[in-house]
Amino acid sequence: MQHCVLRKYLVKNCVSVLDPFCGSGTALHVAQEIVPNIHLVGNDINPLAHLITKVKLEGVSTRIKKDIENVIQKLNNFHEEVSLHNFIRIDKWFRSDIIVSLSKIRQVIINVKNKRNRRYFWYIFSNLVRKYSNSRSSTFKLHIKQTEKIEMMCNEVVADFCARIRSDVEYFIHKPANLSLHKMDILNLLPSLKDNSIDLTVTSPPYGDNATTVTYGEFSWLALNWIDPRDLEMEGWEISNSHIIDSKSLGGSRKEKDIVCSPEQLMLLNEFTIGITKEKRKKVEHFFADYFLVLSHIARITSKYIILTLGNRTVDGVKISLLEISQRHLKNNGYDIEAIYEREIVNKRIPKTTSCVNGKCVLSMNDEYILIAKKRNVF
Ligand SMILES: C[S@@+](CC[C@H](N)C(=O)[O-])C[C@H]1O[C@@H](n2cnc3c(N)ncnc32)[C@H](O)[C@@H]1O
Repeated sequence: MQHCVLRKYLVKNCVSVLDPFCGSGTALHVAQEIVPNIHLVGNDINPLAHLITKVKLEGVSTRIKKDIENVIQKLNNFHEEVSLHNFIRIDKWFRSDIIVSLSKIRQVIINVKNKRNRRYFWYIFSNLVRKYSNSRSSTFKLHIKQTEKIEMMCNEVVADFCARIRSDVEYFIHKPANLSLHKMDILNLLPSLKDNSIDLTVTSPPYGDNATTVTYGEFSWLALNWIDPRDLEMEGWEISNSHIIDSKSLGGSRKEKDIVCSPEQLMLLNEFTIGITKEKRKKVEHFFADYFLVLSHIARITSKYIILTLGNRTVDGVKISLLEISQRHLKNNGYDIEAIYEREIVNKRIPKTTSCVNGKCVLSMNDEYILIAKKRNVF
């Protein structure tokens, strides 16, 4: 989908693309496939997202196949003493034999000299951390599995790792992209970017605060505790607890900045929040104060197109149309709506119905929209 859309709107004279909430870097990767030398600017607050995007876009070194065989050989002939890794509540989230296996792999990865290859190994490792943890795979939150399920898990960690580092590598053998990648709160990055300095912005922003929509930070927390911090871009606060990334994300409860909606923005929002309880309405307004600020900066920085993948969430049974709200905000900030595409969300981890309000099941986000906005009077 991203490919079809970007192929159409990445016009020939586009030399730069921004994804301010790049996650695992999918959109930037697609942009690079279409225009190989394009300048990619990415950002995400989550260090795991940053690492994955870096691996995807910078790829591996030419000696990766040698490194893979060395790593496999070391793991299959492991005679050193295992230095058991430890972090807060590790015993809750991993069985003791799994801790031994993951610690072995960790020890071997740390000794890989080439940074790009090491990052590739961490990326594969991070998937196995989640797979072999005691947390359920049906949710983004950390939620302990039933005891029988934990006991039934088969420890194939090392074999699985060895197979995957061989099978997945082909996707990462390519030239490094022309990439400027940041790991920060987007509200701190955007003010430093100049007016019209980016040709096209493509992103899928959060649909609400992470804690009540998708807990990207909590989802990454176990992996972030296992990966060597020297290979992660971190400011220091990121793994202090499992909720901190989510609470510092858009619309979160961070205290240091108190961004509020302007009277015009509140008027726009009011139309969509009638029927929501006062307490939840405050939370929604808090999220949109951040969201409007980000969108206004993006509108200023972008010179041609803004492409947003958006979902409409439901609060207290009231549908909040992020699509409609974003359209109106962009129109007020110098853009015309060029097209809107709709699609069903595939591979959803969140159930189709979530909470019950007044005895009725509430639909969660099932459809996504791609909103394409074009800057007025530029070409
Ligand atoms: C919907 S996801 C993007 C998914 C992405 N398109 C992909 O393919 O992986 C939203 C992303 O925004 C990030 N995020 C949330 N608040 C942020 C903030 N204040 N600054 C930077 N990134 C933030 C989250 O960590 C998450 O990765």
